[in-house]
Amino acid sequence: MFPQRRLRRLRRTPALRRMVAETVLTPDDLIAPLFVREGVRDPQAIASLPGVVQHSLDSLRAEVGELISLGIPAVIVFGVPEHKDAEGTGASDPDGIVQVALRDLRDTYGDAVVLIADLCLDEYTDHGHCGLLTPSGLVDNDATLDRYAEVAIAQAEAGVDIVAPSGMMDGQVAAIRDALDEEEYGEVAIMAYAAKYASGLYGPFRDAVDVEIAGGGDRKAYQQDFRNARESLEEVRADVVEGADILMVKPAVTYLDIIARVRAEHDLPLAAYHVSGEYAMVKAAAANGWIDGDLVALEQLTAVKRAGADLILTYFAREIAEVLT
Ligand code: PBG
Repeated sequence: MFPQRRLRRLRRTPALRRMVAETVLTPDDLIAPLFVREGVRDPQAIASLPGVVQHSLDSLRAEVGELISLGIPAVIVFGVPEHKDAEGTGASDPDGIVQVALRDLRDTYGDAVVLIADLCLDEYTDHGHCGLLTPSGLVDNDATLDRYAEVAIAQAEAGVDIVAPSGMMDGQVAAIRDALDEEEYGEVAIMAYAAKYASGLYGPFRDAVDVEIAGGGDRKAYQQDFRNARESLEEVRADVVEGADILMVKPAVTYLDIIARVRAEHDLPLAAYHVSGEYAMVKAAAANGWIDGDLVALEQLTAVKRAGADLILTYFAREIAEVLT
């Protein structure tokens, strides 16, 4: 008789399933994205990101304390400045909101938490682009690199552990590494948004940081085209050569193939960003009672890890850590 394979035996009980589980998500895998808004006394709700807020300095400090006690090792901080201008001055101002927040968190928690800062200009520019514009309105790659170097130094002075350049300028990792080393911040690491797609899934994030791209524009001239996969491997190789310490793929669930291919080719730590739209879709469907939100969140984040990510940036960090602990 043809032997019938019996693969269900090990699925019979929860203990058997636990014993053979190949992928286990833990709070150690999670990085919590946090927004801090200049000039507010109380946290402000974000309609398209239920459960996520624009923090005040006080509420940010409290939130980070709770994340530490839940076992989450790291946070990535995004600033919402009061004033925006063409150069995104607030991004590199020593008194800019992210620098103030980083100093505060470092003073309060020491090395108990890894402090990461998103390194970009879009939250700080009045035109909403990730770089400086030429007179004709294009994003000027090399002029932007000089600004990124200034932002990196300001974040390093404020006590950041890791800077995370997200603007997709060519050469940004090398420019930032050079600037940090020159100012003797050799210990500050770089988590490179290495493969970052021009995605429709960033909408709620732009609400969170009050960003509107001028003239109804988009970022397709610097972020990647979702029809391409091999291009991501070139982007990642460039960042490895330029000195990235951690690689990142973004978004996550629609790019599991990219995560798997980067994992197969590289041995540096690999992060994936489960972005605002991915979170909002789960929240909205769960609020309608159409799916079990906790279950789908766990399924999606476990899939991201299964595909090869070591670290996941996710707005579910706190909720998932609560479920896991
Ligand atoms: C750029 C940046 C963006 C996100 C992270 N860093 C926005 C963009 O590229 O337009 C999006 C994150 C998310 O959607 O959760 N500073």
